[in-house]
Formats: sequence, structure tokens, C-alpha cells
Amino acid sequence: MNITYDEKLRLFRLTAGDMLYAMAVTDGEYLAHVYYGKALPDEDLTELLRLDEPPFTPSVNNRDKACYMDTLPFECPCFGTGDYREHAVEILDDAGMSACDFRYVSHSITPGKPGLPGLPATFGREQDAMTLCILCRDTHARLELELRYSVFRGLNAILRSALVRNTGDKNCRLRRLLSATLTLDEDGYDMLTLNGSWARERHVERCRLHMGKQRVDSLRGESSHQHNPFFALLEQNGDEDRGICYGLNLIYSGNFMAQAEVDQHRTVRAQLGINPTDFTWLLEPGEEFAAPEAVLVWSEQGLGGMSRTFHDLYRQHLIRSKYRDMPRPVLINNWEATYFDFDAEKLLAIAKEAASLGIEMLVMDDGWFGHRDSDNSSLGDWYVYEKKLKGGLKPLVDKVRGLGLKFGIWFEPEMISPDSDLYRAHPDWAIRIPGREMTLCREQYVLDYSRQDVRDYVYGMLRDILTSADISYVKWDMNRQLTEVGSGMLPADRQRELWHRYVLGVYELMERLVTEFPDLLLENCSGGGARFDPGMLYYSPQIWASDDTDAVERLKIQYGTSLCYPVSAMGAHVSDCPNHTVGRSTPFQTRGHVAMAGTFGYELDVTRIPAEDRAQIPEQIANYKRYSHIMQEGDQFRIGNPFGTEGFDAWIFVTKDKREGLFTYVQTLSRPNVRSRRIRLKGLDPEGWYRCSDNGKTYSGAYLMQAGLRMPNLWGDFQSRQIYFEKTEQYKTEEEA
Ligand code: DGJ
Repeated sequence: MNITYDEKLRLFRLTAGDMLYAMAVTDGEYLAHVYYGKALPDEDLTELLRLDEPPFTPSVNNRDKACYMDTLPFECPCFGTGDYREHAVEILDDAGMSACDFRYVSHSITPGKPGLPGLPATFGREQDAMTLCILCRDTHARLELELRYSVFRGLNAILRSALVRNTGDKNCRLRRLLSATLTLDEDGYDMLTLNGSWARERHVERCRLHMGKQRVDSLRGESSHQHNPFFALLEQNGDEDRGICYGLNLIYSGNFMAQAEVDQHRTVRAQLGINPTDFTWLLEPGEEFAAPEAVLVWSEQGLGGMSRTFHDLYRQHLIRSKYRDMPRPVLINNWEATYFDFDAEKLLAIAKEAASLGIEMLVMDDGWFGHRDSDNSSLGDWYVYEKKLKGGLKPLVDKVRGLGLKFGIWFEPEMISPDSDLYRAHPDWAIRIPGREMTLCREQYVLDYSRQDVRDYVYGMLRDILTSADISYVKWDMNRQLTEVGSGMLPADRQRELWHRYVLGVYELMERLVTEFPDLLLENCSGGGARFDPGMLYYSPQIWASDDTDAVERLKIQYGTSLCYPVSAMGAHVSDCPNHTVGRSTPFQTRGHVAMAGTFGYELDVTRIPAEDRAQIPEQIANYKRYSHIMQEGDQFRIGNPFGTEGFDAWIFVTKDKREGLFTYVQTLSRPNVRSRRIRLKGLDPEGWYRCSDNGKTYSGAYLMQAGLRMPNLWGDFQSRQIYFEKTEQYKTEEEA
């Protein structure tokens, strides 16, 4: 890992893992992208910029400077001065003019990785990270731009962020500041995005890049079910294991844009940042604005290599919770078990049965507060609904604790129901445009989290509940998106800041929560997985992946999610059948195998499920505990593809030392009259020998990966197998093993 600057060539080189990222200061003091790929020896890379070709540089051909501006691979392209491709910065100055033009001034290289005040960001110790900060200036607009680049030891990733500062004496409006721009010299890539809807989050879509712009984004106030702030550019002949691949992910939970543009010369401009639509930020003299951090990952081992870098980066340098490195408690959540129809007795009955089966935590979901019997009321009234919990929370929690279980609780702190004491007292605390009809969604409005008084008040209620009993876990939910985005507190010239100020307010409250309650396990959730983004991972080590708990649907959701998020972050539960979302029945064992590729738990009425299902729970939990270190800390290799037509999915987790592997195979539909499949495993030591838990045989790693494990057709639809491989010193026959 290193960052250097070659004075003569005016070339920056950032190295880490086995990658190199290079930029140069060009004629005219512009900062241009030179190379991002496999590491190269120290040599002159600047000819990659083709500055000796027409349209030449301004010093050679100033009469055609606009052509130069329109072809140079800017690290941070500006609007209005000749680069007609998608820009990363746009301003509106005091005179109403919008062009800007930032030129290189100076730079600093420091050990470590600074944070971003108020925003989630990666972190690293001085010996593990290095940061380059490049200062640019627009002398006309009297603005400074800081571009930050960090690398982490051993990781093929670049972390980027940008900051604009008003050094003049007049107001300026920032209309856009994207977090990262990356140029690829040719367009032979496919773009992969994660898209969907409620109960269908993060389905993978792969499309060939074409001329013009292709974009996914959110204007919903959250990262959203519909699109994730992620995309990958994979060589057209690349796949899971082969090909150059770039992954981009934004550490942010609000409106975003993620875009690839193929220009007239077929170069690709890939960009990521806060969505500029309906965004304007007023910069008074001396003020600054920081864009959220963007992650760029390079892989030459296709999508799989990219994913493993994301997983390592997030596990080591983004997730802060102490639970990051701890086995998470196996929980049981009452949502699908009872919905709103519960009381203390019902919860205790579930807890009692759960305790006897080895479950470790009861989570009381929606419906315990205000007078909430349905989703029509009480959000904002974070005090106990006595009709359901007689005598309050503490007696229930004490009883659950007495059974040996921890206790978790659900909140939806960003919301307010029209039918709530809070709304009756403070209707102006909701986000709204005075005089305009407010759009309801799930019969609720969104609180104005740009307001300190609102945040303080809500936090006070949360704190009262959390200190009133022995609570170990919080599920923080968010069940609607933003409309009529206006704040009663902001002046007219700051109203368009509200989208972002809202997100900053959410972050501030989460920060307070995890700081004041460091032992709390926080699980994020948004109507299922609408805020599954790296911003949330900074506060909560796990995120509920989807309200769709069907094992077969989950194959797609968890596959897509795993493209950039580790399984240690993926909330996954075994639920009852027929499944409440799709009506499908799957074997209890399969539901367990699928949920184990996540933060394992149950979401069913354990007192009412079939006895043969219940009987499997203790062994499921024992297996999860036996193997969870392989999944939580090891490398993930996707083998099957649930979006394909093969009729199965499969994956393997392998410990970093390659001593253990946990392979899971899920057959979707059974087939008549077929021979077995040969499934080629991945990630094992080709030189090593492995004992297979399924048949006791010993196989070489080479055999398992090249010849493949024989997997017969399983009797019945949706059947699964989980097989553990452990390294042995030598080959053993079945009898010896
Ligand atoms: C949406 C969540 O995703 C569910 O798990 C559940 O908590 C409900 N909200 C409760 O309203």
C-alpha cells in the first residue's frame, strides 16, 4: 500500500492489494485519470492520456480548447466550461451564473483515513490506510474543491470523497457535487445493477453498455427497494470468476445517482453521488459541503473477486459495532408470527418455547406502543400500549430474560401517524409543504429530521424505553418514502437542502444511539430491504434484507445483495409455510440452509408450527453456531445463479486459511430421469485434502474444484444440502476416515 507523487511526471500513483490507480496533473492544471487496474512497475504512464494526439493540449492548440475539455478524462468534471459529458460539480454563483472550473493547486499525503463529519465513512489505523487530499481552486468563483482518495492495506479498493468550500465573500449555490468519477478507456463492459421492489429487492440485471447515459437512481429519500446505490462494470466476456470488473458503491442512504456514460470516443464515464435532482445547497462565505464517500473496487477475478473485496472492506473498515466480530444471537421475531395481534402472554409463550429450542433472543416487532392495533396509528408515541403489555415493558422483559433469552424491540423513529399524540401536538413536525395536501403512505407521514428539536424529542422517547428495561437489540424500521419535501424551519433558499439534511438527521440520531448504547445490537430495516446500503452498515452491523422470507425468493435477493454486501450483514429468517408473501411451501431444512447465509433467526409462531419442523430447530441452531465463523469471517464464492435456468443455486464459504468450507446446494424444481450434476466447488486449496461431511470421503481440493462434487437429483422440489469440508492431512479411504 502506498501513495506517491512523481514531481517530474506530475503523476499520482495509489497502490494497494494488487491494483494501481493513477492520475496526472495536465497542461492547464487539470486533474485527469490515467489508469485503474492491475499494478504496474513505476514507469511513465502519462502517454495513456494521449495528449500528443489531436485535439492536443491548450498550450498546443488553444483555439480548440473546448475539444480538449470534452475529451480529457477529468477526475472531477465541471459544468459549463467545455466538457459536455455528465459533470460532477455544478454551481450557481451570486450573479446567477453556473460555469465552474477547478484547477489543481496542491496536495498532501497522510497516513490513516480521516472520517467525514456527520456522514458514515470507512476508517482505518495509520498503519493500515493512506489518504491523498488534492486541493483544486476555481479562482473566478472563489471556491475550493478537495478531492480525497484513500487506500487500505491489502484491498483492491479506492475510497473517494469530495468537498467544496466557499472562500469568497458572496453566497454560492452548489447544485451538484458527485462523489466519484471514473473513466474507462473503452466501452467493452456490461453494467450490472441491483433493482426490484418491495419483497423483490436487489435482483441482478446485466446490460451491455451503449452510447449515451445509463443510470439507476433514487428520488425517494432513501436508497430504496427499487435501485441500490451500486453498479458494476464487467468485461463483456467476464463472469463470476473471470474478467476485469469495477464495482462502485455509495456510502449513503438517501437520494443517489449511479450512472455510466459512453461518449463519442466510446470512453466510459462512471459516476456516483447524491442525486442532483432537487438538490441545491447554499454555501455562505466560509461554509463547506462534503459529499458522501464512494467506494471503487477493481477485480480481475470477475464478480466474485469484486464481491470478496467489498465484503472484506466493509467487515474491516466500515462496520463499527462490537457485534461485527461476534456471533450474533439467534433471534425469534414475532412479526410473521402474530403481526399486530399479540400481548405479553402470547409473546411469553413464544419465548418459552423458543428458549427450550436454543433460540437466544426474542424481538418484539411493531405494535407494542401508543394504541397500535394496526398500521393506522401511533407512530411517534413511543410509550407502552398497556392493553397489550399490562404493567409496562419491564415485567415482560424480566420474564423473557428469566427464560434465558435476550430481548429486542422494534421502532420506526422517523415516522409520525396522523392518529398520534405527537401529531396532534406537533403537526408541523412532519415534512410537508404548508397548504398543500400531504400524501399518505401506509397511513403515515415522515418526521422532519432536519430539525434538532424533532430529533431530540424522538431520541428522548427512545432513550426512556431503552433504559426502562434490559434491552439488547433494536430493529430500526422505515416504512415510507418522502413526498412534499418541505420544512417549517428552513428558509426558502435552503429548502432544497432538506433531502440531504433529512439523511444527516437520521445519521445523527443513529450515532447518538450507538454511542450512548454501545452494547446494543442495531438492525436496520426499511419496509424490508429498502435501505440496504453501506451508509446504514456504519451504524448497524446487520440489515433486514427483505420482507420476503420465502426460501426460493430469498435465493435471488441474497445472491444480488452478496454482490457487494457481506452475509454477516444480511438479516435472514426461517419463516412458516405456506410463505406469507408468495404462498409457497418449502422444506423446513431448506429454509434453514438459506437463512444461514445471513444473520440467522426465526420469524414464526414456534408454538404453532408443525412438530416435525419444530424438532429441527435445535440442530439447525447447533449447525449455525458450528459453522457461522466460516460464513461470517470467510470468503464467499457463488457457484450457482438463481437468475439462470439451471434449476439450482449453490455457494460455498471458505475460511481464510482454507481449512474449512461450507457448501450449500438448493435445488429448485426436481427433474425426472436425469443423472447427477457435477458441481465444481471454489476457493479450496487445490493441493489440500478435504473430508466431506456428507459421505465421509476424502477428496483433493483439485478434484472438488475441477472434477466437481456429484450432486444427485433430490427427491422433491426445493430440496437442499449443506456439506461441510474440513482439511485433513492426507488422503483417507472411507474406512480410515
Ligand atoms: C416492515 C418490516 O420490514 C417488517 O419486518 C416489520 O417490521 C413491519 N415493517 C412492521 O410494521
